[in-house]
Amino acid sequence: MTSTRTQGDHDLVVVANRLPVDRVVGEDGETTWRRSPGGLVTALEPIIQQYDGAWVGWDGGSDGPEEPLEQGGMHLFPVALSPQEIEEFYEGFSNGTLWPLYHDVVAKPGFHREWWDSYVTVNRRFAERAAAEAADKALVWVQDYQLQLVPAMLRELRPDLRIGFFLHIPFPPSELFVQLPWRSQILEGLLGADLVGFQRRGGAQNFVRLVRQRLGHKTHKDLIYLEDGRTVAAECFPISIDVAELEKLSVSDPVAERAQQIRSQLGEPRKLLLGVDRLDYTKGIYDRLRAFGELLEEGALSVEDAVFVQVATPSRERVDEYRRLRDEIDRLVGRINGDLGRIGRPAISYLHSSYPRDEMAALYRAADIMVVTPLRDGMNLVAKEYVACRHRDDGALVLSEFAGAADELKQAFMVNPYDINGMKAAILEAVDAPPKDLTKRMKAMRKTVRSHDVSDWAEEFIGMLKQARPDHRKRLRP
Ligand code: ADP
Ligand code: G6P
Repeated sequence: MTSTRTQGDHDLVVVANRLPVDRVVGEDGETTWRRSPGGLVTALEPIIQQYDGAWVGWDGGSDGPEEPLEQGGMHLFPVALSPQEIEEFYEGFSNGTLWPLYHDVVAKPGFHREWWDSYVTVNRRFAERAAAEAADKALVWVQDYQLQLVPAMLRELRPDLRIGFFLHIPFPPSELFVQLPWRSQILEGLLGADLVGFQRRGGAQNFVRLVRQRLGHKTHKDLIYLEDGRTVAAECFPISIDVAELEKLSVSDPVAERAQQIRSQLGEPRKLLLGVDRLDYTKGIYDRLRAFGELLEEGALSVEDAVFVQVATPSRERVDEYRRLRDEIDRLVGRINGDLGRIGRPAISYLHSSYPRDEMAALYRAADIMVVTPLRDGMNLVAKEYVACRHRDDGALVLSEFAGAADELKQAFMVNPYDINGMKAAILEAVDAPPKDLTKRMKAMRKTVRSHDVSDWAEEFIGMLKQARPDHRKRLRP
């Protein structure tokens, strides 16, 4: 820690594993900053700018400096991780244990005691840094699965704070959660918060049930009553996107021109299908591309009139499962293009790279069909971003019923991503749907997305956190 202060001057402090920017040190030793990957950053960046809050997080590098910095109007407070902590806390416990466990065990979680020890150490460091930056009685909003012990650690350091926690990924059913050797410690860690937020109703219910059954706390509906007199609320707050920012971007002339250019560079296909995901095994990329490949093989679609653009953002590249997935997808794309593509007409245009926001908006504008088929996903912002960019009320969304977004975007072409034939049928239905049907669906989805954007999400959470009543005994006294 660079500071020995016990209190700071920020009334709102967000604590997330990632800062919104990654520190990149070039060969010449020069430091530059690059936008961090993932939906958490997309959602929180506009909020922190709006509330003038502080952001405590890791800068993506090893043993980086901890001096505060200003970026894009945000006050950033880096927390350093050592190479061993990156391996054990970030790649290990966060992404080798919790990530697969919380996503339906679609990959096998590893349970290693040294990973857990590192998780505890790093969570404590985040809690100390947040405690040093928060003003008296400030609101501290802790984010996501990497930091589930921070609420209780922070409360011990700073009982004056109001502490909120939001989980961006699914909270699993108790049958899966109880596999975790450290299940009670995680639940206790979360109960340090006054308000624990989840993407879906089911997540909040799973959590309340677990603290009742495993820790023996009294609960009533969404409330948990602790022996020390505190009440903890568990609620669902479906996250969203900055709709206005994306709408503005997508109707701009450069983005419209770029969208046209993308289509022409792809040979003016009749239908452009698009997938945009971090290269993650929860996203269902492999089966989605297989479904498309089979449609070409069977002649239901042809490369003369359909092309699939798959953008796969590099992610967690040192974790074995992610390496394996990358190889499998490289092979699959190679095979499909080799077997079915023609000169100048690849079946799949596969891009393993990160892009600026305007390029993403142009891709969304260019695509006739957005294919979002995760095996499990907390929300999936990509689905909402596509809808926000369709200002002409056209385009089709094929959406997994296992994404949180499916609760809201009900007019999408819904699929079970494990059912390849079902996915093929839904893609064909979207390809052949009459424009009138598409307009009706898209209009309804746009209305939904516009009616609840990311600042509504944050206001609802922060509003409820401000009202949190820390002591239920006082409230119960006449
Ligand atoms: P996750 O948080 O699991 O990555 P989401 O769909 O919720 O999934 O959020 C992903 C975010 O990352 C979206 O805001 C999306 O626009 C952005 N994104 C995904 N791929 C890229 C890419 N290749 N370049 C730039 N941004 C990307
Ligand atoms: C998801 C998680 C975030 C995470 C992001 C990117 O959105 O919910 O907490 O930051 O993926 O993953 P990474 O491992 O690169 O931070």
